[in-house]
Amino acid sequence: MKAFAIDSYKAALRPREMPDPVAGPGEVVVAIAAASVNPLDVKLREGAFKLILPYSMPLVLGHDLAGTVIAVGPATRRFKVGDEVFGRAGTKHIGSFAERIAVEEADLAFKPATLSMAEAAALPLVSLTAWQGLVERARLQPGQCVLVHAGSGGVGTVAIQLAKHLGAQVATTVGPNNLVLAKELGADVVIDYRHEAFEKRLSGCDVVLDTQGGDVLHKSLKVLKAGGKLISITGPPDPGFARQIGAGFLIRQLLRLVSLKVRLNAKRQGVDYSFHFMRADGSQLAEIAKLVDAGAIRPVIDQVFAFDESPVALARVASGRARGKVVIRVAPDFALGRAKR
Ligand SMILES: NC(=O)c1ccc[n+]([C@@H]2O[C@H](COP(=O)([O-])OP(=O)(O)OC[C@H]3O[C@@H](n4cnc5c(N)ncnc54)[C@H](OP(=O)(O)O)[C@@H]3O)[C@@H](O)[C@H]2O)c1
Repeated sequence: MKAFAIDSYKAALRPREMPDPVAGPGEVVVAIAAASVNPLDVKLREGAFKLILPYSMPLVLGHDLAGTVIAVGPATRRFKVGDEVFGRAGTKHIGSFAERIAVEEADLAFKPATLSMAEAAALPLVSLTAWQGLVERARLQPGQCVLVHAGSGGVGTVAIQLAKHLGAQVATTVGPNNLVLAKELGADVVIDYRHEAFEKRLSGCDVVLDTQGGDVLHKSLKVLKAGGKLISITGPPDPGFARQIGAGFLIRQLLRLVSLKVRLNAKRQGVDYSFHFMRADGSQLAEIAKLVDAGAIRPVIDQVFAFDESPVALARVASGRARGKVVIRVAPDFALGRAKR
């Protein structure tokens, strides 16, 4: 089958013939209609995760997919051939910039009926990140205030909508071209990060979902009330994350060290700091699909690229300027219109 892979870290993403995937126990093979690109794909190519996520080469990139089940492995219960599914492939099974992929069925959910394949492929990784950050970790309650950084990004566009659905007051930071988008998505307070200091405008927040790290992370502490939660998805990773991935002694010490400053500052302010690295989860995705079909969450798509343009799609995400999600149309003949059941 045709796939887009790298031969080594930092190498260009290139088309390549790869062996056809076979469904193992509990797995299904999906014919991919569409994939979407995440900054994680960019960072994997750069080798940013090679210490904690070692992959062998050639490595087919891509985590998000939507498509049709074409084979099922032994002991597979939830899906059958012909089912339309979407999901974030598990960390050991990545490779959605390809015509086909074997995925654990626990990582998949039925595609939302109201979405096209392209729209469905835009959602898994970012919506699971928003869900795990705001529902699982923050336990965001109606009436609470949350600041979502980069409300125009893949994660931010979903996080704003999910937080509003949960009944929260939502503030967000966006660039000047995305003020209208953030309002349309439901944000109550929209701050142009290029012209205004968010930490001067906001105070007393319950939760911050940080997508930027660095200065933005440290300034975010100032907008939280005592007892508030600062959840970062860009880092620095903390000892809790080291435990989650079962890191060895050296990595544990390294993560303790890199997160020391923000953990100490957070403690001083009575704020809880944690780093979250999202995980694939078909059950959560099924809950998200219900919200999509109920009209509470819609994907925002920056651009759709042809399969052959996968390297350009990756570069678009690497630019850091995407407005919502970048999608790759893998199957040449699939329609961009609404899916029919
Ligand atoms: N830990 C995890 O599990 C996890 C999961 C998902 C994502 N992430 C990470 O989270 C980050 C965001 O992911 P994403 O998919 O949302 O990225 P993305 O879609 O590539 O974000 C691009 C958007 O960010 C905006 N932006 C850039 N700098 C900004 C700033 N300083 N303040 C506010 N907005 C800014 C850009 O708007 P302008 O063009 O207007 O600047 C653009 O719309 C990435 O670093 C990604 O690796 C981590």
